[in-house]
Amino acid sequence: MLGPVILAASRSDRMRRLMTAAPGTKQVVDRFIPGERVDDVVPIIEDLTGRGLELTMDVVGEDITTREQAYAARDAYLELIDRLKPLELGERVEMSVKLSMFGQALEGGHELALANVRPVVEAAAEIGTTVTLDAEDHTTLDSMFAIHDELRKDFPQTGCVIQAYLFRTEADARRLAANGSRVRLVKGAYKEPAEVAYQQKHEIDKAYVRVLRTLMEGEGYPMIGSHDPRLISIAQELARRAGRKLNEYEFQMLYGIRSEEHLRLAAEGHRMRVYTAYGTDWYGYFMRRLAEKPANLRFFLRSMVTK
Ligand code: FDA
Repeated sequence: MLGPVILAASRSDRMRRLMTAAPGTKQVVDRFIPGERVDDVVPIIEDLTGRGLELTMDVVGEDITTREQAYAARDAYLELIDRLKPLELGERVEMSVKLSMFGQALEGGHELALANVRPVVEAAAEIGTTVTLDAEDHTTLDSMFAIHDELRKDFPQTGCVIQAYLFRTEADARRLAANGSRVRLVKGAYKEPAEVAYQQKHEIDKAYVRVLRTLMEGEGYPMIGSHDPRLISIAQELARRAGRKLNEYEFQMLYGIRSEEHLRLAAEGHRMRVYTAYGTDWYGYFMRRLAEKPANLRFFLRSMVTK
């Protein structure tokens, strides 16, 4: 019951101000968002890749209101890619981007987001890696998929995310599996109405398995974005049945969540990519992590009163 309330609060400016100023917030935020600046995350990139993990980097931010903020988002990714260049990690470190942070919701936003994300994809390709477009709320997805198609004309490795909770996703998965896309499948983290999305966990989990089967049997590269142990076992079995080798799919999990499992899967020979977010505009990302697991909220509230 708490999840939807927290997700509603994630869109409230008043809550944002309260949470950002609250004592104890930083300590809890740090678990999921290990730094604010590139300098904070470069050592983490070196540490995790040194331990056999791969990464996808997210400069946190979304729902911006000015074109200047959209250009700043682009520049933040370009700065990150510049810092990655001497590390020569290639596709072991890719980028995840939210198009809303690139201006998608502003006037003329579709074109603006495409124009802003293209230099990031180009710069990523120059250092031998790629970009995955995150999935945000359902109203943004037609634009996201169109931008994905457009970018793939020059950069076929550009990935995108699909969300098992949406009714539309099975059809999206069939199209993406047939055209050879890199696709991250997640359950879905936004507050979506019953007209467009499954609301019950068991329905979402069943849809996840259906979509995953489509991706595994298709021509693309499936990326299993989940911490759910049951879905991870099912993914391994579906990959085996589809005759996929260990390098023909990958697991992905979020920084700070089930970290021992990241290492266990990597030690088994799986590609394991850790989604690592950093930056100052962490509120929306952090609130979705609280909503996914109400125990996080209890921990957060406790840390505020014990300060
Ligand atoms: P589930 O929520 O059932 O969790 C399974 C277990 O994992 C829990 O029992 C708990 O142990 C642990 N766990 C999960 N979330 C936790 C948390 N916040 N804190 C502590 N423990 C937790 N969504 C989206 O809409 N668009 C996107 O682009 C992305 N991108 C993305 C990338 C990657 C790499 C991942 C892993 C996830 C996303 N998501 C996302 C988020 C996704 O939609 C979903 O909300 C979370 O992954 C939680 O769902 P699980 O599949 O982990 O299962």
